[in-house]
Amino acid sequence: MSHVNTIALIGCSGYAGQVLATLLAEHPKFELRVPPSGRAIPGDPSTLAALAGVDAVALAVPATPALEWTSILMQTGCRRVLDLSDSHRREDDVHYALRELCGPTPEGARLVANPGCYPTATLLALAPLVCGSLVDPSGACVVGASGASGAGKGLRDDLHFCHLESNVLPYNVGHHRHRPEIEHHLGAPVSLVTQLLPVARGLTITAFVAPRSGVTPADLRACLVEHHASHPYVHVLDAPDGRLGLKSAVGSHDAFLAVGPVAHGGHVPVFATIDNLMRGAASQALVALNDWFGLEPSLGLAAPRDAEVLSTPLFAHAHARTP
Ligand SMILES: NC(=O)c1ccc[n+]([C@@H]2O[C@H](COP(=O)([O-])OP(=O)(O)OC[C@H]3O[C@@H](n4cnc5c(N)ncnc54)[C@H](OP(=O)(O)O)[C@@H]3O)[C@@H](O)[C@H]2O)c1
Repeated sequence: MSHVNTIALIGCSGYAGQVLATLLAEHPKFELRVPPSGRAIPGDPSTLAALAGVDAVALAVPATPALEWTSILMQTGCRRVLDLSDSHRREDDVHYALRELCGPTPEGARLVANPGCYPTATLLALAPLVCGSLVDPSGACVVGASGASGAGKGLRDDLHFCHLESNVLPYNVGHHRHRPEIEHHLGAPVSLVTQLLPVARGLTITAFVAPRSGVTPADLRACLVEHHASHPYVHVLDAPDGRLGLKSAVGSHDAFLAVGPVAHGGHVPVFATIDNLMRGAASQALVALNDWFGLEPSLGLAAPRDAEVLSTPLFAHAHARTP
């Protein structure tokens, strides 16, 4: 039998953890290890015993326990720790697992930070434009909207059905925890406003950028096409259309990008849509693990969606039923 790597998952009862557990359980080269039932309090001896000898530990828990677990796992000699929380995403000596920007997970890394969901969508859309000096680096305005699973499974008043249903409302205005992460990896300031949608999952952003003098919207699109040409799960659409809808991306690793065709008031809208639980968390984590173990990056993932086929509304509806 060919070699199988053991991956322990802490937090598999959470939204992101459930999706990652499913991907790991179906993966041909990974064997999922789940610590004993109940919440894995950092340092708990029975959990530590269950983690002994595994090839990697994935942490799908909130930032505070993730920070504590990371420190304990490093001290106890764990070979690889993949943290899905935002505890280590702005540390220069920790690999940031946004493959399209930072490349594959280095083989020798011990700790890897999985990117956040809004940062993933925003950076896929904006980083090539900022790196290519096509837009004014003094700042972009990003408006996002996402489903309630982005907040995790904990109960909160604003996540109750009665509050969410038929409603759209901004949250964490002025102090969204993803803004510093975006700015760190973009190397430019952003203004970020996010809205909560009455859907379970999916996330979309519109970033208003100011092109430098002489740069057209077509130049911005060409830059994204060139940057993502070798990234099969990133689709730069011809124009903003129905394929930017959440249904295109939910249940998949795919990201859909588009650039508005004209500038108004000196700004061009740039769009990105992903599934917060897949590309924004679990499938991105799976790609990082694949790279870490020298496997094909897409192993265990469905093939990229066909962006052309997605333009038919019926297809989009069919995909609304995928997990
Ligand atoms: N949801 C997303 O779209 C998304 C996207 C990207 C990254 N992330 C990150 O992924 C991580 C998990 O997010 P989530 O949305 O899956 O959260 P969640 O649904 O609230 O699940 C959290 C998980 O962590 C466990 N947990 C909570 N507090 C803990 C503690 N003090 N010690 C040990 N375990 C604890 C929970 O166990 P119990 O079952 O006992 O409560 C559950 O298994 C977070 O760091 C989040 O920022 C989430």
